[in-house]
Amino acid sequence: MPFDASNSAPFVDSFGRAVRYLRLSVTDRCDLRCTYCMAEKMTFLPRREVLSVGEMLRLARVFVAHGTRKIRITGGEPLVRSDVMELFEGLAAWRASGNLDEITLTTNGTRLARYAEDLVRCGVRRVNVSLDTLDADRYRALTRIGTIQRVLDGIDAARAAGLHIRLNAVASRGAFEAEVDDLIRFAHGRGMDLAIIEEMPLGQTGCDRGQTCLSNASLRKDLSQRWTMTPARNASGGPAQVFRVAETGGTLGFISPMSCNFCAACNRVRLSCTGRLFTCLGEEGSVDLRDAAQRSDAAVIAAIREALWHKPERHSFDPATISTPNLERHMSALGG
Ligand code: GTP
Ligand code: 5AD
Ligand code: SF4
Repeated sequence: MPFDASNSAPFVDSFGRAVRYLRLSVTDRCDLRCTYCMAEKMTFLPRREVLSVGEMLRLARVFVAHGTRKIRITGGEPLVRSDVMELFEGLAAWRASGNLDEITLTTNGTRLARYAEDLVRCGVRRVNVSLDTLDADRYRALTRIGTIQRVLDGIDAARAAGLHIRLNAVASRGAFEAEVDDLIRFAHGRGMDLAIIEEMPLGQTGCDRGQTCLSNASLRKDLSQRWTMTPARNASGGPAQVFRVAETGGTLGFISPMSCNFCAACNRVRLSCTGRLFTCLGEEGSVDLRDAAQRSDAAVIAAIREALWHKPERHSFDPATISTPNLERHMSALGG
């Protein structure tokens, strides 16, 4: 379907922030159970509630027609969805015709070896891969069921296919401080970026985040004793504060929602795999676009504008209450 240029005013929230970036969650399922993200036993959505690829493209097209230039595919784990490549193929056509600048994904990497070349064929150039440790036992403990070699193989395949990789590491107090130097060397030695993420209080996981959450402010101070870090441009314009590390030449990003609020520059919204639009990761509110889509594009547009009017100025995560989740929703429901 062509893009309608007659009604293409960008979506803007009540604080004047334009939406340029859609994060599209294609499933709430995952083949891992990371302790900071999920509970050990999770109940996933019935498949009939999950949008088809056609429905996702239909909704995404409305965003692209109104100013969205980047789409990130998220999960759960997006690559566990068996028809996910049909979605990438649909988006690839928009990128090829200049209607989108970037298609990307955030993945746990377990299935990257299988999909890396297909992703490149669909115009994906950069991917974010979650990897919090290089130690096989600790990886198993953190993911509860994962095997690190699968991710390492996925990373190798992605590099061989020409994908640029940023590793995402959620910092947890205790072991991480002793492992972070190895992660920096591992990432930068292979031409990958690294982002260190503060744990956010989403959903009950059975673990006390008060025991594990590590402030990026203190980690950075510690790292600066051993590494020379100078501020660098954040190519994605996202929440990471990015530094270049003189000793390696690589970049190190800090995503610090708990210790440093970055919402003023927020240009993103999230669509869940059931078609609910979330204007903020850190707030409960959402609107149902699937229902609106059954009526008309005009109904979808009206629902999006209405939702954006209520997009909060900033999230309300508070380090003082990190042990109590702000939201019932797990991170896996929206993919971050
Ligand atoms: P870019 O698209 O390059 O900006 O990447 P990203 O860092 O936004 O994407 P990714 O999916 O890799 O997310 C990394 C971490 O950032 C995850 O923990 C996300 O939950 C978190 N994150 C991404 N966007 C937001 C946001 O708007 N608010 C908050 N609080 N966290 C976010
Ligand atoms: N806090 C911060 N980051 C999280 N992620 C998953 N759960 C949390 C959490 N509670 C990260 C994953 C992945 C990205 C989508 O979000 O590790 O890299
Ligand atoms: Fe799965 Fe990602 Fe959540 Fe880990 S962080 S359980 S890989 S969705």
